[in-house]
Amino acid sequence: MKLPEINILDEKNKILRTQSKEVTFPLSKEDKKLIHDAIDYLTMSQIPEYYEKYNLRPGMGLAFIQLGIPKNIFVIVEEVDEGEFEHYIIINPKIVSHSEELIYVGEGEGCLSVNREVDGIVPRFARMKVQYQNEDGETETIRVREDISVAFQHEMDHLNGILFIDKIDKKNPFKDKEKMREI
Ligand code: NI
Repeated sequence: MKLPEINILDEKNKILRTQSKEVTFPLSKEDKKLIHDAIDYLTMSQIPEYYEKYNLRPGMGLAFIQLGIPKNIFVIVEEVDEGEFEHYIIINPKIVSHSEELIYVGEGEGCLSVNREVDGIVPRFARMKVQYQNEDGETETIRVREDISVAFQHEMDHLNGILFIDKIDKKNPFKDKEKMREI
């Protein structure tokens, strides 16, 4: 596999604070290429052979705004079995419904735009139903739970110019811990 040439913006870059816009169809060639470059990059970032060779930080998701493009598109790559990956291409997502139950990632969330460890709780819905469009512009719905639900919410925040670090209480990073389930 060849490492795609993509440039991921750092948290200090104000472009990350942009509100991304609705995508119209058909997608441009450039957008399709970027979607697949992002998937390849994330996949390689999770494979030891490649992340060692290219010195990559492992990542699960990327929103277009992290590549400097303010469009409502994100991708997620999940290792479902050892060396076996599945991906999600999500365009114009909207939360249809969500659980009342909240969860948080015990070891803390990570982000390819945030090059440091940040401790603290980011409350997320444990389960959601999300409506979105696929690459062909067809409307679909998906139910997500646990870590994929967290990943979807993390990426949807990016589309609204929000980073996970914004959601951590500055004075008390573990505030309301007892009201949520750790995953
Ligand atoms: Ni992120």
